[in-house]
Amino acid sequence: MKSIIRSSDLAYDRGGGALSDAEFDALKDILLALYDISPASAKDEYTEVGAAPAEGFAKVRHGVPMLSLANAFSDEDVTEFVARAKKFFMADILRDSDFVLAFTAEPKIDGLSASLRYENGVFVRGATRGDGTEGEDITENLKTIGDIPHRLKGSGWPAAIEVRGEVYMTHAEFQRLKAHSAKFGGQDYVNPRNTAAGSLRQKDPKITASRNLNFFAYAWGIAEDADGVSTPPAATQTEVVQKFKQWGFATNPLMLRTQSADDLIAHYRKIEEQRATLGYDIDGVVYKLDRLDLQQRWGFVARAPRWAIAHKFPAEQATTVLTGIDIQVGRTGALTPVARLKPVTVGGVVVENATLHNEDYIKGIGNNGEPIRNGIDLRVGDTVTVQRAGDVIPQIVDVLLDKRPEGAEPFQFPHICPACGSEAVRELNEKTGKLDSVRRCTGELICPAQVVENLKHFVSRNALDIDGLGDKQVAQFYAEGRIARPADIFTLRTRDERAMKKLKDADGFGPVSVKKLFDAIDARREPELDRFIFALGIRHVGETTAALLAKEFGTVERFRETAIAAAQHEDGHSVFPEIGGIGETVRSSVMAFFANERNVQALDDLLDEVRPQPYVVTISADSVVAGKTVVFTGSLEKMTRTEAKAMAERLGAKVAGSVSGATDILIAGPGAGSKLKKAEELGVEVISEDEWFERVGQ
Ligand code: IVH
Repeated sequence: MKSIIRSSDLAYDRGGGALSDAEFDALKDILLALYDISPASAKDEYTEVGAAPAEGFAKVRHGVPMLSLANAFSDEDVTEFVARAKKFFMADILRDSDFVLAFTAEPKIDGLSASLRYENGVFVRGATRGDGTEGEDITENLKTIGDIPHRLKGSGWPAAIEVRGEVYMTHAEFQRLKAHSAKFGGQDYVNPRNTAAGSLRQKDPKITASRNLNFFAYAWGIAEDADGVSTPPAATQTEVVQKFKQWGFATNPLMLRTQSADDLIAHYRKIEEQRATLGYDIDGVVYKLDRLDLQQRWGFVARAPRWAIAHKFPAEQATTVLTGIDIQVGRTGALTPVARLKPVTVGGVVVENATLHNEDYIKGIGNNGEPIRNGIDLRVGDTVTVQRAGDVIPQIVDVLLDKRPEGAEPFQFPHICPACGSEAVRELNEKTGKLDSVRRCTGELICPAQVVENLKHFVSRNALDIDGLGDKQVAQFYAEGRIARPADIFTLRTRDERAMKKLKDADGFGPVSVKKLFDAIDARREPELDRFIFALGIRHVGETTAALLAKEFGTVERFRETAIAAAQHEDGHSVFPEIGGIGETVRSSVMAFFANERNVQALDDLLDEVRPQPYVVTISADSVVAGKTVVFTGSLEKMTRTEAKAMAERLGAKVAGSVSGATDILIAGPGAGSKLKKAEELGVEVISEDEWFERVGQ
């Protein structure tokens, strides 16, 4: 059997073309027939799919991060996306009557993204998306996919390129596999996407080869010439995809290029109509700005490009019974009700739980105080409509009142924390004068649920990201009394050396895994400052805010000192610096965190163990305006104000709204008034828009 598989490898090498597609298919049939004759081996292999991820794939750092997309759920969201683009490029549109602002529309394939690195036209490495920055090396498995050339066809490809796209499984293949598995009493496959994922994560590429996976190419990461200079494969998204096709990749035939939002929406409807007959799962349509130079100018927010958006198909629904309501306590003490449901399949996935958000939601009151579900409350025993959209947590969207069992009681939301027994309260929002929709446990550090959730957050992927220390291990270590605060994680090794009950003897551990874990912990003793600030779990400080704080303060010491000084000052807001993108809620929350001595003590103990690295502006730190504070005023002629701001920030400058002693440069266009006057008074350097471009070399 091995020799057949090996010769079938040749067929995948489309550049080489050792076998025709038909010959290759015939060969695969033989291979599968062999599996049929040998049920034992087949069964083993099938039961492996969907099992815990195989360990041992090497990590691969993507040359350029693999991003996610912002979502659009309605036609208006699409019109707004196009309107935003027009606004951003208004200066170009006004200046140049030939300026064309075109977009592409293509199906959003419901599979798994992969990045394929080609060097001088040869496929050298393929990786999963992972966390977007780092994925896993699944080269050998990807090589078994017929749509992925081992050698690029044609010519004119960059010396090094990461071709990106979606690995997916067709409905036909999924059915074939299901039928085949049923014959041997193998596992029941959930849906094509999960099955494709399981197939890709096989340790043995020959199993991957036995699943006919497919691939569509639609994006790319790095693209460089022989000297490592960045060279986009073409000028537009449309042309790049055409090139992919010439190079031997499968590309999606349903791609459209147009300038109008109406056309984009019409194309979405057309694809939606064809959805059931396409033969593979899609979950929406992706719109992208066509010109790559404009994409670069429009830029990114957090982890998604501004220049693309995913228009999702409406969620799928099903009816089931609400069997119970459980209360979970989160990191910030929020009591979140969770619906337990009679298992039901929604869009190919079994749903057993749904989020209920908060007590008002159960009562039939939405966030803005308006009724939801026609104001009908949810009671245990109710028949409900459940909805699932993509990876979003399932929601209960409706109650079938006529099916409500007699005697069903309204749900009594607890006023006592189920984890620690402390009082749980709804705070009064001082700004709106309304009660907060969330009921929170007041136990803080005495509440085991909050402590554990905080620890989980601390080590989570976008925070300190400690390999081998996941939710399960954190909960176990806390329960066993090994850790109670973040600092304890870093003293685990030394304490374990002295301990009677060694970790290597604990459930799920052994000498090797313990050593690996301790090494992984040590490897994170010098975390990036933004990750560290995010890891602290300060309320309202998400990743983006943490990065803004890190950028502003530069070092953990400065952040700590300033925040404590502000927290101790009677008017903290006068001490805490104004930071673009950070509002009053965050400022108050940071000060409240530092006003609590136990938090400061926990931080200081942690700082005895770890040394967060000073924040470095990675984007163009070498540009002449990096670190400078600039202000734009007057009318700009070459770019809009939004674009000017985005560009300056990309170059590492800070953009302020008004001129002060901290301003380094004022860029003044025609019609500049009071800001120009003030800058002149303060002796701030004033330059024109043209001079700005000369200086930044763009
Ligand atoms: S473009 C920077 N195009 O959707 C933009 N993504 O939510 C990169 N996806 O992780 C993505 N079909 O796995 C793009 N035609 C398509 C897509 C597509 C599916 C997936 C991809 C990505 C996710 C983003």
